[in-house]
Amino acid sequence: MDKLLLHVGPTTIKEDVLVAGLENNVGFTSKEFVEALAYSLKGLRYVMGASKNYQPLIIPGGGTSAMESVTSLLKPNDKILVVSNGVFGDRWEQIFKRYPVNVKVLRPSPGDYVKPGEVEEEVRKSEYKLVALTHVETSTGVREPVKDVINKIRKYVELIVVDGVSSVGAEEVKAEEWNVDVYLTASQKALGSAAGLGLLLLSPKALSILDSQNSIAGYYLDLRNWLPVMRGAEEGKAAYFATPPVHVILQLAEAFRLIEKEGIENRIKRHTMVASAIRAGLEALGLEIVARRPESYSNTVTGVILKVADPQKVLAGTVNEGVEFAPGVHPAFKYFRIGHMGWVTPNDAIIAISVIERTLRKLGEPIRFGEGVKAVEEVLFSAR
Ligand SMILES: Cc1ncc(COP(=O)(O)O)c(C=O)c1O
Repeated sequence: MDKLLLHVGPTTIKEDVLVAGLENNVGFTSKEFVEALAYSLKGLRYVMGASKNYQPLIIPGGGTSAMESVTSLLKPNDKILVVSNGVFGDRWEQIFKRYPVNVKVLRPSPGDYVKPGEVEEEVRKSEYKLVALTHVETSTGVREPVKDVINKIRKYVELIVVDGVSSVGAEEVKAEEWNVDVYLTASQKALGSAAGLGLLLLSPKALSILDSQNSIAGYYLDLRNWLPVMRGAEEGKAAYFATPPVHVILQLAEAFRLIEKEGIENRIKRHTMVASAIRAGLEALGLEIVARRPESYSNTVTGVILKVADPQKVLAGTVNEGVEFAPGVHPAFKYFRIGHMGWVTPNDAIIAISVIERTLRKLGEPIRFGEGVKAVEEVLFSAR
């Protein structure tokens, strides 16, 4: 049986994207590769909402390497405020603690989000060089209202960094309009390409910091080393700092071609529709979701709380029925996660809820059996 992958990343990779990596003689100096890199950089500006004033970078690794490369903008003793709504927000703290900087973390109660006013209160109290936010916290499926936070704090801090690993390609992102200094993501989530790349977009201010001062960054993740490679590609020239994941970048370029064809607004609408259909199905079944507040429901991840059934058994049971979901990773909840991003379709919402209904019934979870799929159908029908 073909498996439907509704994981939080890697997500399903379309065949055209996979096949784009099947080239046996592409060197990093080749025209094909330089074009694919340049095209992907352009694609990044498109999905993150920025003009040529912003500099995109593509580095090996993933979300974590992109996060750690932000140290390229920091000096010893800089003060950083991390706004953490869960496990991946906490990762900012874990990273910065390895470097000679001072970190303070704001956290909400589990399943909630730090309110813009709370961030404002903190940055007015104390002078921070950088504030790090997570657009969609993948451990809880909670979306931070980054635009509102930035409106409140922009004048108090030098740099604003947003982790968009679970948002870019599925949520509205306007890096330039919102005045973000670093927006980052990874290749394997809502962009629907293979894992292996950290993607960043830097504001003119972030670029001038890179150009003008040394930092606490190490060697491989110092963005100063990668910048000439990106600038070179956009001028049609190959440059080397360290071997790029050539084939993964060929795949990413194809993913951007498909995203452009769909149109980013249509893509966001599709994600919104699928996410609301899935949530309607879960609510009709009588299941509780991890995200506490409706305004913070994300387009990409939904955590499903279990009263009775063992999450491991739910995951094994649903795989048996042909759908792979993701385990929960936040210690405060007994739950599993549905990833609905990338190339997810409205019909996937029906399959997801149907498989969840059948599996949970078998495992003794109290649900209103049969109500879930009906609710999904209603949302999809009214959306047309
Ligand atoms: C919001 C968020 N940030 C960062 C990361 C880390 O990304 P990676 O696993 O690609 O290093 C993840 C991974 O799931 C994530 O969801």
